[in-house]
Amino acid sequence: MINKFFLNVSIALFLTAGAIVAQKSSPIVVNADKPLAAIQPTMYGIFFEDINMAADGGIYAELVKNRSFEFFHPLMGWKEMKQDSAAGSLLVSNRGENSPVNPRYAHVEFDNSKGTYGLTNFGFRGMGIKKDMKYHFSVMVNHKGGNVKLNLELTDPQGNKIGQATLVPGNEVWEKYTVDITATKTEPKAKLTIWFEGAGSLDIDMISLFPDDTWKNRPNGLRADLVQLLADMKPGFVRFPGGCIVEGRELATRYQWKKTVGKVEDRQLIVNRWNTEFAHRPAPDYFQTFGLGFYEYFQLAEDIGAQPLPILSCGMACQFNTAEVVPMDMLDPYIQDALDLIEFANGSTSTAWGKLRASMGHPEPFNLKMIGVGNEQWGPQYIERYKAFHDTLKKYHPEITLITGTGPSPDGLLFDYAATELKKLNAEIVDEHYYKNPQWFLENATRYDNYDRNSYKIFAGEYAAQSVATVSPLNKNNWNCALSEAAFMTGLERNADVVYMSSYAPLFAHNEGWQWTPDLIWFNNLSSFGTPNYYVQKLFSVNKGTNVLSILKDNKTLTGQNGLYASATFDKATGEIILKIVNASDKAITEPIIIQSARRLAPAGKMTVLASKNPEEMNSIEKPQNVAPQEKPLNIKGKKLDLNLDPLSFTVIRLKTM
Ligand code: AHR
Repeated sequence: MINKFFLNVSIALFLTAGAIVAQKSSPIVVNADKPLAAIQPTMYGIFFEDINMAADGGIYAELVKNRSFEFFHPLMGWKEMKQDSAAGSLLVSNRGENSPVNPRYAHVEFDNSKGTYGLTNFGFRGMGIKKDMKYHFSVMVNHKGGNVKLNLELTDPQGNKIGQATLVPGNEVWEKYTVDITATKTEPKAKLTIWFEGAGSLDIDMISLFPDDTWKNRPNGLRADLVQLLADMKPGFVRFPGGCIVEGRELATRYQWKKTVGKVEDRQLIVNRWNTEFAHRPAPDYFQTFGLGFYEYFQLAEDIGAQPLPILSCGMACQFNTAEVVPMDMLDPYIQDALDLIEFANGSTSTAWGKLRASMGHPEPFNLKMIGVGNEQWGPQYIERYKAFHDTLKKYHPEITLITGTGPSPDGLLFDYAATELKKLNAEIVDEHYYKNPQWFLENATRYDNYDRNSYKIFAGEYAAQSVATVSPLNKNNWNCALSEAAFMTGLERNADVVYMSSYAPLFAHNEGWQWTPDLIWFNNLSSFGTPNYYVQKLFSVNKGTNVLSILKDNKTLTGQNGLYASATFDKATGEIILKIVNASDKAITEPIIIQSARRLAPAGKMTVLASKNPEEMNSIEKPQNVAPQEKPLNIKGKKLDLNLDPLSFTVIRLKTM
């Protein structure tokens, strides 16, 4: 796309060679003496949704799938094993109303005098196991009789044992037992088998295996490599839990945060809405166990220095699916959920929800400052419901900023309707979504240049350039898309007086378990990598600065002339001038840059270049750094730089003022 477009532009420029000379001779001018709008700390953040196995099987480090037998098919992910003429049987028991959140458990009876009986779990497309790593096994057991032991075994796909441990259950009451297994081999597709030794019977439930090296070594923790990639971005906020998952395909499967906090075994699993969404990518084993629940999301945000941004159901199920709504006179419980969430996050430990937060290990408040009302809703039903949320939340919590939205598309009738209504309602920050082709991103680098400065602020809440078409399984995280997003982001940054927040979406995808592409970070059971799009996001975020500066050529902002897009900022904390320049043309360009500054510039600056001559280039597990930032030397003569911009490149420059 970019190549063709710029080939035409280049031919046009070639035919009017005088124009080339004129362009070359006029420098880019950065005015560093006049810091303009403040850039919000939330300018660049992350959008987390449990799609593509992002939570269970992804960042949530649990290795056992269907640990409490609550999937629609209770033994999905499990297999009974019989060696020799083993005698053993398994019965799935359901306690129903006696245990409504975790009704099922497995009752096993065995006598291994003639062979061994066991149960194997295959994990999420296998279990990623690392040599010498300790794995924490736990299980709830009600020992029903007999002299029995549980022999635990990790094996590779060839059946070789790569870790083992033994556990002896005691009393005839439900009790949690734990034991560690140390792995002797690295294996991406391991499985766990519980061999039942002796003769007797047991009830078992909540069978779990976590690696020792979770993020900050937390029990019930997160995969450290994936969190590290997020932390490296230094995001300003974490939006959670989505996305459409907030809404549910129907109201019954909407995300209800209260069911995701407290003891892990008391969190009621539900189906993941992406389970059957796309016929071309079915994932019948995709559920939400909520081991990663709202407490863990708040903790994640805090750990990586980001503000939490929970998005709540506004009483409307996904309008692409059932479009169910809760009647207006039954909306109160939904609004109450929002009020209670503020108490859970910020309330003192003497409040009911603050007390629960403290009991989970966080007596200090989480410092929640904003809440999203609904995800990607549209139409008058949304405006009506948003207004009801707004009136109550502002009455009791005027300190909380409300995020609302204009629906799935950045233009068209639904967008125009929502934008007009939300403006009338003096909405604070409005979430816009752009899943468009790379050309759209280039053309929309000017989207907010003429935006009404008296209107609401913008949250560019979900965006990603689509190399083929929105929702096409053929979409790629290629350099062409990433570069067009970088061009677009210069426009967001230049307009930081109105654009307060932005995030790429979706965030994560498991190589074998994805439903939606493109995605920012891809992973398998053992490794992960950032796409070129990830590096674009990261470069913007870690080079954010505190204030916008003007950067002009021929007195105009750079929004595609000669294939160039640019933004500039100043960092008051470090005294640095930061330039971000995209060369979306397939030609190297030499640009003189003049820095207008009352201060001197240090003779050496820092230049980081993200580039590839091939717009189709991508990163992968095998080549995670195929398109990755490179540091280059940068010499400054006085206040002038002669910048060589690689073809198809994104360059970030930091200049120290003295
Ligand atoms: O990011 C994937 C989906 O795209 C989100 O769940 C939804 O908000 C949007 O339609």
